[in-house]
Amino acid sequence: MDFYRILEKAEAGDFLETGEMAVLLNAPDEAAQQALFDAAYRVKSEICGRKVYLRGLIEFSNICTRDCLYCGIRRSNGKVSRYTMEIDEIVRSAALAGQFGYGSVVLQSGERSDPGFVDMVEEILFRIKELPYDLGVTLSCGEESMETYLRWRKAGAKRYLLRIESADEKIFQAIHPAGVLYQERKAALERLKAADFQTGSGVMIGLPGQTAEHLAKDIAFFREMDLDMIGMGPFLPQADTPLGVRYPDSPGMAQRRLETALRMIAVTRLVLRDVNIAATTALQAIDPENGRERGILAGANVIMPNVGDVSRRKDYQLYNGKPSLDENSAVIREKLIASLAAIGETPCFNLHGDPLHYRNRSGK
Ligand code: 5AD
Repeated sequence: MDFYRILEKAEAGDFLETGEMAVLLNAPDEAAQQALFDAAYRVKSEICGRKVYLRGLIEFSNICTRDCLYCGIRRSNGKVSRYTMEIDEIVRSAALAGQFGYGSVVLQSGERSDPGFVDMVEEILFRIKELPYDLGVTLSCGEESMETYLRWRKAGAKRYLLRIESADEKIFQAIHPAGVLYQERKAALERLKAADFQTGSGVMIGLPGQTAEHLAKDIAFFREMDLDMIGMGPFLPQADTPLGVRYPDSPGMAQRRLETALRMIAVTRLVLRDVNIAATTALQAIDPENGRERGILAGANVIMPNVGDVSRRKDYQLYNGKPSLDENSAVIREKLIASLAAIGETPCFNLHGDPLHYRNRSGK
């Protein structure tokens, strides 16, 4: 079947096989790619409105026990100056998000499972609950036990982001050290759902050896796992990591990867319909002026502006080219509001912004 027939089927919400998704991901030319973005944006507008949910991002610690081959804050990167924000500072950042009207926050960190860390996150959650703002809290702290997930859920977190990075087991294993297992990552996602989290996952786009067929399988994985939220972005080689050294960017590669990422957002919207999809910072890293806006116009409906202190920003670089390294969060906010207005999108202030999919699947 040709591209446009499949696109029509996708927009109508018919079931797509992975082979059909791959045809869309391989849009044959610029006009086809634009038609794909437009169809996904129509579906996004119909289901989510021309509205964008906001989450204030707090990168509260870059200490990590893992050694993922692509990540700038991997354990063995000795060039990183390690920090963990004080609980008071974290809660102040959350309060700032509330004051900004963001309605929700994402607490992200390197991965640790020691009791001190688990207690600390729980304490942060209790403290955020006491703030005079009604904030929806998302955690993004890696693989943890069911006991830990349940404690954090009970303490007030209601969403969790844990990327599968690639749903292809071979690619997953190739970008992680021996101890990190695909099956365990998948099991952790299942625990999150069993713990009643609104559960998000995602992949990196443009990994070595990754084809449109792999990306189509990633979307099929999201569908099978019945996920509520998706966060994806281009892979960005980080110079101090094994993968970054082995696969440095050649000219034009980043732009191509950005377009692949946008097509991936579009096909994900067409297939999954009522999920929240983030226009991630990695898009903005490649196209600082318009990356996230292009993400929205390709079907994303969530943006996560940083609300942490500028002084920490440079120490939390998962990849090179992180945007807004020296912009304070008020400036980030002003620019974001203006750039959304320019594409006719309205930011949703003071809303948790729950994914419709969670409400549809859980009845809550
Ligand atoms: N390029 C792009 N994304 C990256 N991440 C980590 N390192 C990189 C990189 N070099 C992403 C991973 C992780 C998320 C927090 O950041 O997908 O899950």
